[in-house]
Amino acid sequence: MPTDPSQAAKAPPPVRVLSGIQPTGRFHWGNYFGAIRQYIELQAAGEAFYFIADLHALTTVRDPARLRSLVHAAAVDLVALGLDPARATLFVQSDVPEVTELTWLLMTVCPMGLLERCHAYKDKKTRGLPADAGLFTYPVLMAADILAYDATVVPVGEDQVQHIEVCRDLAGTFNHLYGDVFTLPKPRLVEGGAKVPGTDGQKMSKSYENTIEVFEDPAVQKKKIMRITTDSRPVEEPKDPAGDHLFELFALMAPESDRLQMADRYRRGGFGYGDVKKALVEAAGAFFAVARARRAELEADPGRVEAILADGAARARRQAAAVLTRARDACGLSRGGPPSGRKA
Ligand code: ADP
Ligand code: TRP
Repeated sequence: MPTDPSQAAKAPPPVRVLSGIQPTGRFHWGNYFGAIRQYIELQAAGEAFYFIADLHALTTVRDPARLRSLVHAAAVDLVALGLDPARATLFVQSDVPEVTELTWLLMTVCPMGLLERCHAYKDKKTRGLPADAGLFTYPVLMAADILAYDATVVPVGEDQVQHIEVCRDLAGTFNHLYGDVFTLPKPRLVEGGAKVPGTDGQKMSKSYENTIEVFEDPAVQKKKIMRITTDSRPVEEPKDPAGDHLFELFALMAPESDRLQMADRYRRGGFGYGDVKKALVEAAGAFFAVARARRAELEADPGRVEAILADGAARARRQAAAVLTRARDACGLSRGGPPSGRKA
């Protein structure tokens, strides 16, 4: 829903959903079923802001052409998957420079210890790997992302809950020092986003090189599916579908009746995993057919997605500018005239 600038300093609506996703690779089934699908469903719950976190991605992607291409692809993918720019504001993080200024203000109230406890940094340090200040202060930028839009609900995976706590902590400290400036957000753990298995049965993740991308070339996708690891139990042996990663993937995409039938075949035995893989190829094809068609249309008209992002950035900036003014006034950065942007 577009933000009316005259409303920007007034009380935020009761539900404002916001989330960000890093363009560090093309989206895989884990990203879709674990995060993106729920973000898209939530666009109906109230006002929604979704952004492509390119500033965060800079902590890992250091090839400019690749970053540019991943950002564009992420936007095309999200719209193709059902993110509706008429209902949700879709934008690129770095198109809203107000957020980086807000990051500095938050940094001045952020204890080092709070960031030292954050897992991304801690994990690198424990493994003896060099960490830069970008990775160390990553959670502060994320807090600014959330606070700049007066977000109330932030849908995230389990791994991001700690960062929402940091955001609440920083907002609380700033408010305590300077008055009621920021709206405190709540995390919303994505439902059903438990753990999508990869081709080797571990959690699907870019880091494990076991992903199947949502919009992968169908021939490549088929090859990957046919290579999903399975056990070597004899064909006739009855098997439990629960906990079988091939079945879990099939269950995510197959219609209910096919899922029940397949579970039954597992329990009876007398089937080959090759047949399940073929059924998975078909189920995935059908499940993403509409999104693939929409993606092809969008690809044919690159200006369309760029226009969506430009419109999203303008709406997002209006909101972020109002919050930044509130924060600047509160901590004494503005001069001349009375403070302008009190939170209503
Ligand atoms: P990756 O592990 O491939 O680098 P990211 O960390 O960029 O993926 O994940 C982006 C979002 O997708 C996060 O919210 C995360 O919770 C979700 N996600 C990623 N992989 C999975 C998975 N295998 N199952 C469920 N959710 C996942
Ligand atoms: N750190 C998040 C991730 O890796 C992405 C992100 C950046 C984000 N800023 C955010 C998510 C603000 C929610 C809100 O998945």
